[in-house]
Amino acid sequence: MGLFKDLISIKDLTREEIDHVLVTADAMEPLAASGSDMLKGKILASLFFEPSTRTRLSFEAAMLKLGGSVISITEPRVSSVEKGENLADTIRVVENYADVIVLRHPLEGAARLAAEFSSVPIINAGSGAEEHPTQALLDLFTIFKNKGDIDGLNIALMGDLRYGRTVHSLAYALSNYAVNLYLVSPRLLRMRREIVEDISGKIKVEELEDVEEILPELDVLYVTRIQKERFPDLEEYEKVKGSYKVDLNLLSKAREDLILLHPLPRVGEIAPEVDSTRHAKYFQQTRFGLITRMAILALVLGAVD
Ligand code: CP
Repeated sequence: MGLFKDLISIKDLTREEIDHVLVTADAMEPLAASGSDMLKGKILASLFFEPSTRTRLSFEAAMLKLGGSVISITEPRVSSVEKGENLADTIRVVENYADVIVLRHPLEGAARLAAEFSSVPIINAGSGAEEHPTQALLDLFTIFKNKGDIDGLNIALMGDLRYGRTVHSLAYALSNYAVNLYLVSPRLLRMRREIVEDISGKIKVEELEDVEEILPELDVLYVTRIQKERFPDLEEYEKVKGSYKVDLNLLSKAREDLILLHPLPRVGEIAPEVDSTRHAKYFQQTRFGLITRMAILALVLGAVD
């Protein structure tokens, strides 16, 4: 077994472990082009009980790039979940077929539960609105590659901070570094109180509704989609829909070296005209997702120290 057995929450990793993932990801970059047989004979099971483009395909591509193989459930209706099989039983079956399981599930706590039943590593690829730890690692890697460091940066997370799992994991991850963190959202979409309380003791955190108040100071602006599918009441969604947008006019007030990140998919919160600016790093971020997930698989399976 490698650096960690499971990757369930970013809170389970120390700063040293996070830094080690970033350094390993950097070393993986040439292998993304050349390929490797580092994980030859190993099998990844990708179990996705919610839609995904980037996370599933980048994990599967990462496994193939490292010489391993992939089996998958990408549509619960064609698995025995449709017949009523529970998650614990599904995991106890799949562990016989795979060396590592990547799980996306709509329920918070699902990945933790799966890890309790699994003898092979479980990697959380998104657990409801709770966490998305591998996204946080690739987000940190993107910041590190563009800025050369994470300490000392002014970073804003903007958008749906209430239901967005990527920003939950990223806020916890950033609390290991000496950053100033700005949480920008409509009041209805503010970050969960327990997260703000947890991280406020470690770093400077400021909550605000208008990004323009701090935009000229920012090194990184991380934007998220409003997670319409997670609203218990669609009337609440209608109140905040379209309440923020990054366009050329807004970016004219930003620093030249501001980088703009987004976990994607976007549905209107970043105008397409922004894509060709020096600020836009969200497609580079998806490439770094492949490299970071190569590192995570190699570390979890003990192929690298
Ligand atoms: N960023 C992210 O999790 O994208 P997918 O939902 O497409 O995997």
